[in-house]
Order: sequence, then C-alpha cells, then structure tokens
Amino acid sequence: MGQAPVGVIGGTGVYDPAWLDGAEPRTVDTPYGSVAVVTGSVDGAPAVFLNRHGAGHALPPHRVNYRANVYALWRLGVRRVVATAAVGSLHRALAPGHLLLADQFLDFTKGRVATFFDGGPGGVVHTDMTEPYCRGLREALRAEAVAQRLPLTAGGTYVATEGPRFESAAEIRAFRLLGGDVVGMTGVPEVVLARELGLCYATVALVTNYAAGLAGARLTHQEVLDVMARQSASVRHLLRAVLPRLDAVACDCAGAPAALPPAAREEGTGP
Ligand code: HPA
Repeated sequence: MGQAPVGVIGGTGVYDPAWLDGAEPRTVDTPYGSVAVVTGSVDGAPAVFLNRHGAGHALPPHRVNYRANVYALWRLGVRRVVATAAVGSLHRALAPGHLLLADQFLDFTKGRVATFFDGGPGGVVHTDMTEPYCRGLREALRAEAVAQRLPLTAGGTYVATEGPRFESAAEIRAFRLLGGDVVGMTGVPEVVLARELGLCYATVALVTNYAAGLAGARLTHQEVLDVMARQSASVRHLLRAVLPRLDAVACDCAGAPAALPPAAREEGTGP
C-alpha cells in the first residue's frame, strides 16, 4: 500500500502551495459542500494542501466550512494533518514572529457547527479531547524547528474566539488567567472535527501580534497580514522539510474513529 497523503491546512498568509511538486488543483465534493484542494508531493511523499479561508481569503473565520474541509482531506485518504494559524500572543515573552505548537485549546467560539455527529441515526458520539493535538506530529515539528533554529515554543494553550472582531483587553486578561497562551479564530472546531474522524492533527501557530491590551495600540488585520507575509516563509520551510517524514512518525492517537459520521456511512466512503 502506498503512503497516505499528508494534509496541510493553510491559514492566513499560507495560501500558496507552489512548494508542492506536481501541484494539481482539484475539487472534492463532500456531503457538507465542495472544497478546493491542491494535490502533489514533497520529496516523493504525497500531500494535499487546503486553503482554509478559500480563494482570495474570502471566508472569515466564522464562515469557514470546517466540516467540508476536514471531511475532504479524510476522503482523499489523509490521516495526518498539519494546520497553520495566525495568532495573537498573551505573553510579552512570546513576541511576534515566534512559532508555537499548541498542545491544548480553550474553546470560546459560538454558533459554529462543531461536530460530524449531530444525533439522529448516527447516535450520540462523544470524542475524547484529553490530548487534542498529535504528540508524534508535534515532536517531529519541534525537532525540525530546532534543526532550522526557528524560534518555536513546543506546547501551549490555544484560545479559540469566534471573531471576526478582535478581543477586548478584558477578554485577553481573562484568557491569560485561564491559562491561555495564544489567541486565534480558526483552531476550533477544526481540531475537534479532525479528532472525530480519527485524524492526527497538529497546529503550527505563528504569532503575528501581541493580543489586545498588551501592545498599547489598536489591532489591525493589516499588521497580522504584514507579519505573516514576513514570516510565512519560515513556516513553509518547516513544513516542506518535515512533511515527507510525517507518515512514519509514531503516535498514540486513536486512529480510526469509533463511529463514522452518518453522511460517510450514507455515502459508503468509509476508510
Ligand atoms: N486575536 C484573534 N485572532 C488573531 C489574532 C488576535 O490577536 N492575531 C491573529 N489572529
């Protein structure tokens, strides 16, 4: 059996899959909607790239079709996913330009469809979220970041907010008291949906700004884009180097989901 393709979900500033060899655009139809992806390979290892915000960054975080995105990767045989995300930092010491590998999340989103298991014939499914981010993928990413001398913090809590507004300074103070390290708008439900399908999933978060109230200035989306534009090359280098190794990393993620989503059973597209 061939190697399973590794999935990359590109967030803000990581739109361009030109680093994939033999890049080929494809549309994947899912029970949740159609998804544009690019298939290709990195040093012979198959990979699928998906732009989370759609063409031209048209979809704001609360409008992203997270279920279709994750399902499309799974349908293409992807079992391991590395996502990128722009985040604000909750700590002075974690400056813009730093990378962080999330190992926990706090979910403050609201009004998003956050599950494949909505009751009905599929029954009730509760997915374990004790360790949401794959330990094996994180370790591979950490080791490569060290080799590339990138400023990366291995471990930290990602606070997911609904957006599209930025947070108030009081919200950021509260998130810090709760143990948050970085804040972003897209990490949840993506990680949850990936775990529901039994995918290994890791997030490389790039700090683009100090969170509200830390910098003493107002936040703009432009500064997020500017920092991302300057730093996204290091994220791409990291991914390019590590992707061919990810299929082989050992981990203790559960693998196949305990139950398939009803839509997958109806489609007959089980793994
Ligand atoms: N808050 C929420 N999401 C973000 C931020 C932020 O400060 N920076 C980049 N994405």
